[in-house]
Amino acid sequence: MILLLPVILALLFGTVILVFMFHHLFFLVYKHDTKTLPGGNMGFPFVGEAFGFFTPHKSLSIGNFLQQRCSRYGEVFKSYIFGSPTIISCDLELNKFVLQKEGKLFQSSYPKPIRDILGKHSLMIVTDVERHKKLRRIEVGLINKFSSTLNFLGDIDKLCISLMESWRGNQLILFSKQAKQFSFNLMLMNLLDMQPGEPLGLQLLEDFLTFMKGFVSIPINLPWTPYAKAVKARTRISSTLKQILNEWKNRKDVQVQNRQQKGDPFDEILVKEDLISDVEKVSILLDLLLAGYETTSGLLSLLVYFLAQSPQALQTLKDEHLAIRKKKKEGEPLNWEDYKQMEFTTMVINETLRCGNLVKFVHREAIKDVKFKGYHIPAGWKVLPILSAVHLEPSLHENPSEFNPWRWTDPATSKKVVPFGGGSRLCPGSELGKLEASFFLHYLLLNYRWTMKEEEYPMLYPYMDFPKGLLIALETETTNVN
Ligand code: HEM
Repeated sequence: MILLLPVILALLFGTVILVFMFHHLFFLVYKHDTKTLPGGNMGFPFVGEAFGFFTPHKSLSIGNFLQQRCSRYGEVFKSYIFGSPTIISCDLELNKFVLQKEGKLFQSSYPKPIRDILGKHSLMIVTDVERHKKLRRIEVGLINKFSSTLNFLGDIDKLCISLMESWRGNQLILFSKQAKQFSFNLMLMNLLDMQPGEPLGLQLLEDFLTFMKGFVSIPINLPWTPYAKAVKARTRISSTLKQILNEWKNRKDVQVQNRQQKGDPFDEILVKEDLISDVEKVSILLDLLLAGYETTSGLLSLLVYFLAQSPQALQTLKDEHLAIRKKKKEGEPLNWEDYKQMEFTTMVINETLRCGNLVKFVHREAIKDVKFKGYHIPAGWKVLPILSAVHLEPSLHENPSEFNPWRWTDPATSKKVVPFGGGSRLCPGSELGKLEASFFLHYLLLNYRWTMKEEEYPMLYPYMDFPKGLLIALETETTNVN
């Protein structure tokens, strides 16, 4: 029997390869009238064009693969990625159409490794329209409720001030890590009522960092791989969140009762809500912690990076924040009114999102045969709207690789930039992310000047990251504020 094992394995392996080749050829040659499909290349059997598609590149470019394919076949082309025939779209109109027709012609379709890591109850994964609506209503409610409370604004303020204090005397910092800690702590304080530095919070942060490494790694489930470690980290995160939820339900102490009487969002929406199971509640917390900290911290790093090379934008921004601070008493926290006055700040954040491309593309699948602009998109095919390609398209944006916040004075710009996706899956945390970034910039600009100490660029892996961690040198800002 032992001797037969290699033969059986070889046969199994051979069969799998043959099935993939057949699948590949079937889609390529027989199943569809190739004339109506967009042009393109299905690459090698089994892997298709995955290697080209996933080659890391600077966030201010679309990378060689898309560049070459677009110039050869046009902005919409066919390919074979993730073991599936795929339509890749760098076209603004098709991207918008795909996002708007969610649930009718297209649906979310993240690859299995991402589904395994996020869990089947994650909002991004759920495809059933009614279930998505129900979970989304709860998540949006939670985000809106806690971000509109005074507590939340006060927490951002406090956390920014203590971060600025912690940097005193430090000339060099790895900014990327600091930004991750900052946005994670903010989510912990507001979602889970935990103070920064609490042991359970530190454990959660460590598990989230492991989780993220696996999220962007090759999905091989062997004990030593980042992917396997991420799956384990996810299990630990879920059980910690479950424990927190249970403690919250059973606690009767004065602090909890006070919060319950005040209509605490966490209590009202997660503890009392009985339309969803505890597993779904844990998944909601996980969604918000993950989406809330990873993207916002990326945005903060990108802001520091782009502003370091744009003295004019930096000065205009500083003037805006000095003017806001001058109207306030010494030490008075920021409020909604101040936020509404941060007009140039909003333009800087929008331009940073356009150039930084935190989310390069989203995953969709056609659920019906679709005809659009003369292209045929067959049911069952993957569709990848590439958000970054539209942000960097020269026919839509003048000098697209130039960081120029003033381009946002033209209202048409916002129609050609979609960093938060669209349709029924439009990011529910967009305003929250912008608010956090605006407050953070306020304190950073009033306290420090900074320069980059190493040459590096934001890279898309496809998730955005700074390979060297964004090392910056800080100098205390001496401008007199009050
Ligand atoms: C600040 C930068 C952010 C960017 C660039 C960003 C980008 C995106 C994008 C492109 C999507 C759509 C995904 C898809 O269509 O498949 C999305 C969805 C989502 N985002 Fe964000 N996001 C940001 C911040 C946040 C924050 C702060 C939160 C929460 C606190 C959040 C929570 C979510 C959730 C829950 C979804 C899933 C929505 C659904 O499927 O219905 N995001 N985000």
